[in-house]
Amino acid sequence: MKIFVDSANPETVEALVPLRIVDGVTTNPSLLARESGDPHETLARICRAVRGPVSAEVVATDADGMIGEGRRLAAIDEHIVVKVPFGKAGVQACAVLSGEGIRVNVTLVFSPAQALLAAKVGAAFVSPFVGRVEDIATDGMDLVSRIVEIYENYEFETEVLVASVRGPAHVVEAARMGADVCTCPPKVIDMLFNHPLTDIGLAKFLADWDKAQAVRA
Ligand code: G3P
Repeated sequence: MKIFVDSANPETVEALVPLRIVDGVTTNPSLLARESGDPHETLARICRAVRGPVSAEVVATDADGMIGEGRRLAAIDEHIVVKVPFGKAGVQACAVLSGEGIRVNVTLVFSPAQALLAAKVGAAFVSPFVGRVEDIATDGMDLVSRIVEIYENYEFETEVLVASVRGPAHVVEAARMGADVCTCPPKVIDMLFNHPLTDIGLAKFLADWDKAQAVRA
């Protein structure tokens, strides 16, 4: 399963790249709004750092506006994936942009039916928002499982990109279900590394080693 970083902060992405576990980045208007400077420059810097798919979202709300904005975003760097919100305008824009060879990530997906429509118009990625589904007391990972099942039935090439991830359990469940990508906030990536038994085990190995060295000295 590919791991993307859900962040628009270039320094954060640059710090994670040397770990070699990051395959791409997802941004959205909320994340980009937190950053200073020109958003296109920020996206270009993130693309140079990660050299994998970087989702950049349109803010237009009509199909023609989304298509024009999508083309401009795609021109920033070959790694840009244009993110469009699900809806009639987003589906139309996805069909046109995908037809031009521009990869599209259909976002704000909350039902298997929406994911089916996104795949039919050639989306490269579909983004179910699991955390936000769970915010309204519904099973977010069940949504992912249903989308994976539908895509397998028809051999759609659209990749299932699990978004709105809130913790390591979402990442593990996504991998068990065969999702293609999980996009994680930086703090969740940190959590994936942590286990108290690893810390305790390492402290014991080092203490035993130091004790043996002291006896020999
Ligand atoms: O990039 C979209 C998504 O991951 C948003 O997550 O935590 O704002 O629901 P969240």
